[in-house]
Amino acid sequence: MEKVLIYDIKYLYTNNNTAPVKGDKMRSVSCLEDAYIYIEDGIIKDVGTKDWDKYKCNDLSLYNAEGTIAIPGLIDSHTHLVFGGSREHEFSRKIGGEDYLEILKSGGGILSTVRETKNASFEELYNQAKRSLDEMLLFGVTTIEAKSGYGLDLETEVKCLEVLKKLNMNHPIDIHVTYLGAHALPKEYSNNRQEFITQIKKDLLVIKEKNLADFVDVFCEVGVFTAEETKEILEEAKELGFRLRVHTDEIKSIGGTEVALKNNAKTIDHLMAITDEDILRVAKTDTIANLLPSTSFFLNKEYAPARKLIDAGAAVSVSSDYNPGSTPSENFQLTLQIAANKLRMLPNEILTAATINPAFGLDIHTKVGSLEKEKIADITLLNCKNLDYFFYHYGINHTRSVFKKGKLVVENRNIVKEL
Ligand code: NIG
Ligand code: FE
Repeated sequence: MEKVLIYDIKYLYTNNNTAPVKGDKMRSVSCLEDAYIYIEDGIIKDVGTKDWDKYKCNDLSLYNAEGTIAIPGLIDSHTHLVFGGSREHEFSRKIGGEDYLEILKSGGGILSTVRETKNASFEELYNQAKRSLDEMLLFGVTTIEAKSGYGLDLETEVKCLEVLKKLNMNHPIDIHVTYLGAHALPKEYSNNRQEFITQIKKDLLVIKEKNLADFVDVFCEVGVFTAEETKEILEEAKELGFRLRVHTDEIKSIGGTEVALKNNAKTIDHLMAITDEDILRVAKTDTIANLLPSTSFFLNKEYAPARKLIDAGAAVSVSSDYNPGSTPSENFQLTLQIAANKLRMLPNEILTAATINPAFGLDIHTKVGSLEKEKIADITLLNCKNLDYFFYHYGINHTRSVFKKGKLVVENRNIVKEL
């Protein structure tokens, strides 16, 4: 049996809960001073304070945290990890004031990445995504959700989903996969939208048979897919046994949230334009409001009404939305710092929103998302005096080390190479 003791943790922060954490409960984070974590075969067996000497024995790996702080491994539950190329050629248009949807309409945006993704080989996509995963790990992320969506035809979507499958096997970060075939309408379907929807519904069957995704997502937005089209795809996906997530209310509110909630979506994502009525609706459900503040930052758009959502009693998570168009940054710590400064979320709320609540949104809450007995030992140690400091000193990487399933995978901001 492999035993590990992490000791001399100055403060250990965790929100232990058996249901999505809603409203003011998001602030109920416990903070243990002078803490330790005792691990056997990758599973947390004890979390306590001070008297760690009782665990010290001969066959134990000792890890001295040297007065750093411990949090559950971060969970980034909305990324578009796999894509070809990049979009810096659109950056000047964007900062010159051209609108995100205008760029998409002119054949750029998502459609430009689709062209590059179709042309990229499996290896190119794999290597590019692996570099991003390494960055994420260095920022203390131990689990992500990742979507396809830059293929828009079955062959390319399957290629991207298979890249994710292989990365999940080879990389320390756990990847939960979402099929986002309805990410944009390909130009060739612009006069026949229904044909594309019908094709997506057929493709869902293939994805299911090949067991390539757990979740299905749709981009419900003006100029992309309507609420009716979203409903048609989600209902079919649900019928086939997929769990649902929806890009909705990013730019305009067109009914996607209501459709998502009616279909018990695990998460509704973006929500910058969510209506007051829909805020009350989501607060009555266990659907997680997944906010993506880095996207507002990069697109110079409104920020989601996080305070209203939390004050109404919703369960909120925060994710990066890492993608080549609206969030070309793997720095999840910066996302969380933007959540503090721009969403006006409090440090404890953000800890909940980046650990236990995204675990609920991914249905992995019994295994990860908090530091408690019998959970997997996914732990991030931060070189911070306390949790407030993590948000206050922004823009840098605070990671000291990362444990994944009880194994040290990042030490002193370097990925530990297995011998
Ligand atoms: O979540 N909004 C839709 N999809 C992505 C952006 C994709 C892109 O621009 O490449 C998002 O922001
Ligand atoms: Fe997204």
